[in-house]
Amino acid sequence: MTERCDLLITNVHAATMDPSLPGAYGAIEDAAVAVTGNRIVWIGPRRELPETAADQIVDGEGQWLTPGLIDCHTHLVYGGHRAGEFARRLGGESYEDLARAGGGILSTVRSTRAASAADLYRSAEPRLKALIREGVTTVEIKSGYGLDLDTELKQLRVARRLAQHHPVNVTTTCLAAHALPPEYDGRADDYIALVCDEILPAVAKEQLADAVDMFCENIAFSVEQCQRVIDAAHRLDLPVKVHAEQLASTGATRMAARASALSVDHIEYITDEDVAAMAESGTAAVLLPGAFYTLKETRVPPVDKLRAAGVPMAISTDLNPGTCPIASLRLMMNMSCNLFGLTPAEALAGVTRAAARALGICCSRGVLRAGLRADMVLWPMESPDQLAYELGALQPADVFFGGRHVTAG
Ligand code: NIG
Ligand code: FE
Repeated sequence: MTERCDLLITNVHAATMDPSLPGAYGAIEDAAVAVTGNRIVWIGPRRELPETAADQIVDGEGQWLTPGLIDCHTHLVYGGHRAGEFARRLGGESYEDLARAGGGILSTVRSTRAASAADLYRSAEPRLKALIREGVTTVEIKSGYGLDLDTELKQLRVARRLAQHHPVNVTTTCLAAHALPPEYDGRADDYIALVCDEILPAVAKEQLADAVDMFCENIAFSVEQCQRVIDAAHRLDLPVKVHAEQLASTGATRMAARASALSVDHIEYITDEDVAAMAESGTAAVLLPGAFYTLKETRVPPVDKLRAAGVPMAISTDLNPGTCPIASLRLMMNMSCNLFGLTPAEALAGVTRAAARALGICCSRGVLRAGLRADMVLWPMESPDQLAYELGALQPADVFFGGRHVTAG
């Protein structure tokens, strides 16, 4: 470290989440963190801090510092809402029935196509701000409610524009293969051709997506159709992610692992072979307890097996109008413990280190370590176990976004 840094935070405990440090949180008690520009330049026990001058010194008052939280799977740019569908599901209709009857995703497609970019921006902003208020500094946002070239581009541009006006990194994912649009009814292969030959190349040309996602499920696209989307994404040099095995076992996870996908998401119905394939390919699991809860599912993802195989387990909101209209990553941490059996430390890893893996950004984010981006949150708590346990009152005391002190929300 040079003799001068921009920001020095002292008198904090750091839950670094660095797996090379001992303990589930990679904790450094009584730590100091030095930042220059938007990077951490030094982190360690305060007594080992080299002599340094700083433009700004923050006294952490014995609070805990964590990496900025990462919500690695959202659909937060969309038109309208589906409160009516919520009521129908409470009355006994299933998500699949509503989807087959032209509701579900397609109802949001209608409202998203009808909305202007300004409307979409205005309705997405409070969702994004709710996440930011909780200490989220990176959000992935998917398209997938357009299902035509113009609306997919519109959604992705809005997602990029949200990042320009808020203290948050946004990564974008093209999910054009989310559902079959009504104008392609009975012609799923033709729609997949549109996705592969027109939508993805146009999205790539405008550099609007960092990854490509697809919904591989009996009510959406088959493994063969998704394989065509994967091949098209790879031709454009884009990594893939897959909504896989949420409602049934389909073989989607093995297909994703063969393609070295960044992540497979949902995965309630994966098998032992799927877990082995993920461990082999380094594909992360993204667990979405909010969708599980909203749909009142009963089958949980095989967390013990994923843990034993060393598969990184990320946790995300899946924030969307159908299966998780809940803009709270902290609640998802709590649900991942109560519903899926993660430990509080795994829950925090799930929204930091593992979430960075699921987005392919672990070289720059997800842990507190010299050289990585200084996205950090200071929490008024005595133990990092409180983050998954205590909701509502426990809010960030301070957020540092690329080393800049920002007001959360
Ligand atoms: O991740 N599974 C597909 N997509 C979303 C649901 C989208 C919707 O119902 O609008 C999900 O759960
Ligand atoms: Fe999703």
